[in-house]
Amino acid sequence: MRNLSETETNIYLEQVLGHIEEAVQIVNSDGKTIYYNQFAAEMDGLKVSDVLGEHIIQVYPSLTLETSSIMRVLATGMPILNQPQTLVSSTGKIVSLIYSTYPIYQDGLLIGACDISQDITKIKELSERMINLQSELLNTRSSHHKKSKPAETHAIARYIFDDIIGSHDSIIKLKILGQRIASSSSSVLVIGETGTGKEFVVQSIHSASPRKNGPFVAQNCSAFPATLLESILFGTIKGSFTGAEDRPGLFELADGGTLFLDEINSMPIELQSKLLRVLQDGTLRRIGDNKIKQIDARIIASMNIDPKQAVRNKELRLDLYYRLNVVSLTVPPLRERKSDLLTLANHFISIYNNKLNCQVSGISEETSKAFFAHSWPGNVRELQHVIEHAMNIMSGQVIELEDLPANIGQSNNLQMLDDCTESIKERSLPEILSHVERRYLLQALDQSKGNVSKAAFLLGIPRQTLQNKLKLHKLMDNLPSE
Ligand SMILES: Nc1ncnc2c1ncn2[C@@H]1O[C@H](COP(=O)(O)OP(=O)(O)OP(=O)(O)O)[C@@H](O)[C@H]1O
Ligand SMILES: [Mg+2]
Repeated sequence: MRNLSETETNIYLEQVLGHIEEAVQIVNSDGKTIYYNQFAAEMDGLKVSDVLGEHIIQVYPSLTLETSSIMRVLATGMPILNQPQTLVSSTGKIVSLIYSTYPIYQDGLLIGACDISQDITKIKELSERMINLQSELLNTRSSHHKKSKPAETHAIARYIFDDIIGSHDSIIKLKILGQRIASSSSSVLVIGETGTGKEFVVQSIHSASPRKNGPFVAQNCSAFPATLLESILFGTIKGSFTGAEDRPGLFELADGGTLFLDEINSMPIELQSKLLRVLQDGTLRRIGDNKIKQIDARIIASMNIDPKQAVRNKELRLDLYYRLNVVSLTVPPLRERKSDLLTLANHFISIYNNKLNCQVSGISEETSKAFFAHSWPGNVRELQHVIEHAMNIMSGQVIELEDLPANIGQSNNLQMLDDCTESIKERSLPEILSHVERRYLLQALDQSKGNVSKAAFLLGIPRQTLQNKLKLHKLMDNLPSE
């Protein structure tokens, strides 16, 4: 392929940058804008033609050489990363953004700077609304609590250990251990695949603890970008950055109760070290504050992949893992406790009999066989959805095979057996095993959306073994590109 000329490269770059949903501004070493995309113009409420060729301070009169990040980067040659900022555009619109400004070098010489900003106005509004709602909810509950029965305040944690259905050894042990650790205030790590009932376990621990009348606050760590998650958890004080208000974080809201950090491995690494400090000495500082607050919130964290794997993938800090893992509970996947299948199925049937006003009495023999043959990658949640699905479409009193979603009747295990008996005459045992292995790998990749660590966890094999098998089966192309 021939090399592109400079003009062609510029045309390509300009068109690509024109389509991305981030504001991009590039200045030369004199601080004059040489590139400014349409998204930036919309965010600033300016015209591209008014900005090109102009000095940054002329375009934004409220900025000075010291406050403009671009001018600072031109002065220092060092990048400024992930800074929150609130702007009032020329049309009076308040815009919250996160920006990074990078120096641009040619042959070691600083020739300009580039500013990339992401508009997070909507997501910030959502997060603030969420915190306000949480604190309103907790306030109503605690004022209500003063007037009435103490038990009402812990209403956010709705579940108790008796709600966890199952008599498999692993579940009985889990409940006994859960009840035992409920009385302490040590942090807990709850591990289990998606849909196994981690949230049930976490709420039950809170409900069985001496903190049961205190708040139960839950936050999914994958829901917000790093800077927002930090202010959500730690709170802010007015003026800590433009637009920041005096606002408590979730640690403070959970004071005297439990803070549940769901999917802790999605928490950005730099925030994990701040969390570690709170866990170690129970103190925190709101963003921008110089005062330290003492808080008494029990931290329960959860994750749906193997924590050791998460440490190896650099998703979880080793020191945080040790700190959290002082007490850990593993919620078993449904495929490892199939003796609970019928009890759980009947439990959900009775729930949906009430909800949907039906009189379903149980499941047929064939349905039961199909249930036992299925691998339940979505665990108890999947079973619940299958029962709900069946009870919406069925006409009889018993859930039949035809009432199940298509993937259950011809479950992979049944299909696998069919495959084997079909092909036993034509294919050798190694061929059949390889065929089945390939299908399992594909299925695990599908369920984990191409995440190799999760797929390895689902398959119960080390990540490296899975990598080798993927290469062997020429399945590397099935992984999403980085
Ligand atoms: N042992 C159980 N008894 C009764 N219902 C259960 C049990 N385990 C899970 N469930 C049901 O399955 C659903 C999923 O449970 P939960 O939300 O606690 O899973 P999770 O492990 O937190 O999943 P995720 O990782 O996807 O967040 C719940 O709504 C609940 O109805
Ligand atoms: Mg959950």
